[in-house]
Amino acid sequence: MMMKTLVALLLVATIAATAHASGEEEYEIFPLQLNSGAASEDATLQGITCSSWRLAVEVHNIIEWSTVPAECENYIGHYMQIPKYRQDSKAVNREAYLWVRTVPLPRDGRNIWIFDIGETTLSNLPYYSQNGFGVHKFNSTLFDAWVEKGVAPVLPETLKLYNKLLNLGIKIVFLTGRTVSQTDVTVENLKRAGYHTWEKLILKDPKEYSGKTALEYKSAERVKLEKQGYRIIGNTGDQWSDILGPAAGRRTFKVPNPMYYII
Ligand SMILES: *[C@@H]1O[C@H](CO)[C@@H](O)[C@H](O)[C@H]1NC(C)=O
Repeated sequence: MMMKTLVALLLVATIAATAHASGEEEYEIFPLQLNSGAASEDATLQGITCSSWRLAVEVHNIIEWSTVPAECENYIGHYMQIPKYRQDSKAVNREAYLWVRTVPLPRDGRNIWIFDIGETTLSNLPYYSQNGFGVHKFNSTLFDAWVEKGVAPVLPETLKLYNKLLNLGIKIVFLTGRTVSQTDVTVENLKRAGYHTWEKLILKDPKEYSGKTALEYKSAERVKLEKQGYRIIGNTGDQWSDILGPAAGRRTFKVPNPMYYII
């Protein structure tokens, strides 16, 4: 077992080194941390491993879950902090770019790309790392206090896509579940993280969307954008509620988030 793992890791390391030598500079290969990939982190919960749980969550086979199973706290915490999480994000953002650069875009200034914010453009990992990586029940008081600090770090693989989209002449729309009262801190945080321009920043008006799900809110806002004449080329989110529903965009991209689920 140990031997197999080691052989697999060496194989991956060789492939990574080969890819690097062949001059793929555009997306740098992250150094493999062989000593942090301990298989013992992958605990079992009711007969399945936490990595299988995470996969089922990502592809939306497990839905509407409220918290990360307690058995998986170490596994998820580990996944978020080794390069794997970033590599998974990179695979998504890279694919989005490889696709969009082949799409013929009318030059009328109406092409937009929608990005969610939390766990899509900015990371709440500093908060979640202090709160059980999603094992604890969501606490809006504590979470809002974190958001109000305005120090959520950039998710660098998304920032790369953002810059490439701007270079292609695609305008950016941020569509977030953060509320309108958090506008100033969100603007400040986005700029600090390197997102320097956008066409629109849409935050949730709790009066307009009282009792509505995130799916309903985001879909309704996207429909409004299309009515305003925008063409939604792509749409990136960490939640299925970001990318399902009407006016989802020509293609949608799901970045990883095994820490929480928003309906
Ligand atoms: C949220 O956290 C605060 C501070 O720890 C606590 O006082 C409050 O009871 C929590 N709220 C819920 C709903 O658990």
